[in-house]
Amino acid sequence: MGSPISLGIDLGTSELKAVLLDEYGTVLAHASVRLTILRPQAGWSEQNPENWWQACLTALHQLRQSHPDAYARVCCIGLSGQMHGAVLLDHADRVLRPAILWDDSRAIAQAQWLQNAHPEFAAVTGSLPMAGLTAPKLLWLKQHEPQVFSEISCVLSPKDYLRLRLTGERISDVSDAAGTLWLDVGKRDWFEPMVQACGLRLSQLPRLVEGSAAAGGLTAEAAAQLGLRGQLLVAGGGGDNPVSAVGIGAIDAGHGFITLGTSAAIVAITDHAAGNPVSAVHSFCHALPQRWYTMGAMLAGASCLRWITNLLGQTSEQALLQLVQAGLPQTQPVAATLPLFLPYLAGERTPHNDPLLRGGFMNLGYDSSAATLGYAVLEGVGFGLLDAMHAVQSAGATVGACALVGGGARSNYWAQLLSNILDREIYTLSGSELSACIGAAKLGFLAYGRGGDLLQNGMPVKERFFPIPAQQPMLQERYQKFRGLLAAAQALHD
Ligand code: XUL
Repeated sequence: MGSPISLGIDLGTSELKAVLLDEYGTVLAHASVRLTILRPQAGWSEQNPENWWQACLTALHQLRQSHPDAYARVCCIGLSGQMHGAVLLDHADRVLRPAILWDDSRAIAQAQWLQNAHPEFAAVTGSLPMAGLTAPKLLWLKQHEPQVFSEISCVLSPKDYLRLRLTGERISDVSDAAGTLWLDVGKRDWFEPMVQACGLRLSQLPRLVEGSAAAGGLTAEAAAQLGLRGQLLVAGGGGDNPVSAVGIGAIDAGHGFITLGTSAAIVAITDHAAGNPVSAVHSFCHALPQRWYTMGAMLAGASCLRWITNLLGQTSEQALLQLVQAGLPQTQPVAATLPLFLPYLAGERTPHNDPLLRGGFMNLGYDSSAATLGYAVLEGVGFGLLDAMHAVQSAGATVGACALVGGGARSNYWAQLLSNILDREIYTLSGSELSACIGAAKLGFLAYGRGGDLLQNGMPVKERFFPIPAQQPMLQERYQKFRGLLAAAQALHD
């Protein structure tokens, strides 16, 4: 057998991706399979775990077909995945109902109840209770689907369902477990009082490992199905943001990055659990031992651009970005009269913790155009990130230059605007669209006893963006106006 290959699998919300990574950090092959989201009621967001498994089989089949030699050298697997989802299993590991996802807001009342009943827990769990996190979802099930609740033998996070199918074991890692709200983030272990507050027992939660530790071996059945060797080692892996951090090399305190995907987040790596739950930041465990991160999370990020592109009947986001770029060149400050946009299409986490908040345009005029509306959306998401950055800083985390990853990183215009708004260097990376998969594969190597050097390697910088001083007075003025619109938006659902 030739040099070892690690298989990294990232279970996203809209796509499952997989890569074959060699021990020098080169991606030899990648594959992806689209996933659909079920929205049976307003505010609900669900997926069928069986579809994740089928997507995984398809993606791995593609890799096996396209790169049989590399595939035959796979010696370990790492997993990454969308966080905060609830996969509910009965005693025989059968799925009881569709998984409830991170962007599902049905558990608003239950999150509020947890906060009122146990305000002191947030300092331990690293986050205020929020409707999208796992714990309030279980309280919702207890009240609204008591039959399902009574049959729950185990609650897993999404990527851990893939592990169950791969290894037959109920295991999670501490970075994903932090997103459940059942973890003592400082101790990196389950926090029983919170588990009990949700009517659950510790025995209904999976065993915990670190992301870089071994967490099960491939069953003979899965190995046969996938064309891989039996007993192949599966690493703990982690939640998509921390694993992306591993992928891009954000592994030490002081490193920071912004993800601009369906959701958006600004993440600062720390060497301690540094929560300031009051400002609705998350202080969660990193996917590497003895490291944590503080995150300001937005529920809608680059998805705002997709939304306005469709609404304006533009052929693609790229087409709209070109209109914006032509109409509002970054060589001169924008006009104060431009529309302002609140990016709360799906509510907001940091800093408002308000799933019912909704977005909007203000300051429209007859002169408003696709270009100015498009600009306002890019800027509004940037202002949301500035709010999130302030919250992260209020938790004591340092935010320096930030890497920009996710679909939004494809736009240099947006990257420059973010640099102007956040007043710091922003840089894009080559290959960052696969950062979570690559991070997962690196964790696979670590569990296999390789890859220490690989960990230090980030990704090559594609382009650097520095704040343009002439842009800032107007952006600061517009940010103050943006802040001033919040009360009106909040009043609409009070
Ligand atoms: C993180 C978060 C999202 C999901 C889906 O807190 O909610 O990033 O993990 O990608």
